[in-house]
Amino acid sequence: MAGLALKDVRKQYGKVEVIKGIDLDVADGEFVVFVGPSGCGKSTLLRMIAGLEEISSGTLSIGGRVVNDLSPKERGIAMVFQSYALYPHKTVYDNMAFGLQLAKAPTSEIDAKVKRAAGILHMEHLLDRKPSQLSGGQRQRVAIGRAIVRNPEVFLFDEPLSNLDAALRVTMRAELSKLHRDLGATMIYVTHDQVEAMTLADKIVVLEAGVVQQAGTPLQLYHNPQNRFVAGFIGSPKMNFIPVEIAEAGSGGVTVASADLARTLIPVAPDAAVAGAKAVLGIRPEHVTGGDRPVTFKGRVELVERLGHQTVVEVATAGGATVTALLDGTTLVRPGETLTLGFDPADAHLFGESGRAMERFHLPEIARMTRRTAA
Ligand SMILES: Nc1ncnc2c1ncn2[C@@H]1O[C@H](COP(=O)(O)OP(=O)(O)O)[C@@H](O)[C@H]1O
Ligand SMILES: [Mg+2]
Repeated sequence: MAGLALKDVRKQYGKVEVIKGIDLDVADGEFVVFVGPSGCGKSTLLRMIAGLEEISSGTLSIGGRVVNDLSPKERGIAMVFQSYALYPHKTVYDNMAFGLQLAKAPTSEIDAKVKRAAGILHMEHLLDRKPSQLSGGQRQRVAIGRAIVRNPEVFLFDEPLSNLDAALRVTMRAELSKLHRDLGATMIYVTHDQVEAMTLADKIVVLEAGVVQQAGTPLQLYHNPQNRFVAGFIGSPKMNFIPVEIAEAGSGGVTVASADLARTLIPVAPDAAVAGAKAVLGIRPEHVTGGDRPVTFKGRVELVERLGHQTVVEVATAGGATVTALLDGTTLVRPGETLTLGFDPADAHLFGESGRAMERFHLPEIARMTRRTAA
């Protein structure tokens, strides 16, 4: 088992820099998820760790040794891709055994390793089948099995569940989580799906345009996003952003106002806030509820989506903002109506003109807790 350290890691294709100086520590046994929009550099960074792409500058260490110039084979990693890339004419058994057979491992050792992996993945009954006789989820499990038999120091996954249907993704997500617990191995997992990131990760690394926007536990990112990008990326439905003007800033917080909101004290540290400056108030849909909250505003209902247990309501305010609220499943509301909504300023986030979040005074205790990382 091994941890990793990236120091100012960069990647250029010609003159274009796509990975722009990444510093990151991955602890031994940690499950780290790289998440970000398509094209932000997740796969490139993972492939650099795997040794499939050259590192333009900076250093990458695995288990304490610099591996920049080592081939993928010498790095002690195994990678699982979105496309399973199985050999169609080989059985499940031989697909998993192939790498060890190439390395001329003893047959008894190969057999033991393949059977152990098949046991972990509940595939013992599928070993004689060909890939065409398997479902998508089973094929992806074979690809994961092929990684397990190599007994790597570090598992790398690039969007391994993206080809599966929604229900199967949820099942496989739970299985991957369990696999991580069972093996205790270091895992780095790439996805564009923030729900996968939230549910799987010990640590999430949010990337945008080749830059780390924030790294932290899922709940740290949810409760304490450091900028507007992370705030908008983590959480579903997305956080609402309401343009406001700063009326007053002091040690007790920042008072804001807008066409829709009366003067409201937000309990955040003023940062560089000055009276008259523009800012953006962030409030998550799950924190926007009925008109009985400390801060209220009105809006015309534009959209009602009934999920059963919850109702997603989108309103347009007189001031031109669109606000999404996550209300009770039984809420009686129709498009075209005027609705009074409200929130608690303690749940609000405030972003200065640069997009940086001002520090919140009242973070829930759970946001300070760190998730389990293997000893
Ligand atoms: N071989 C390449 N040559 C030039 N540009 C590339 C190459 N591979 C990837 N890129 C660029 O690098 C950026 C990051 O790509 P990628 O790592 O695949 O993103 P992601 O996996 O986050 O969707 C993209 O802008 C992409 O066009
Ligand atoms: Mg990719």
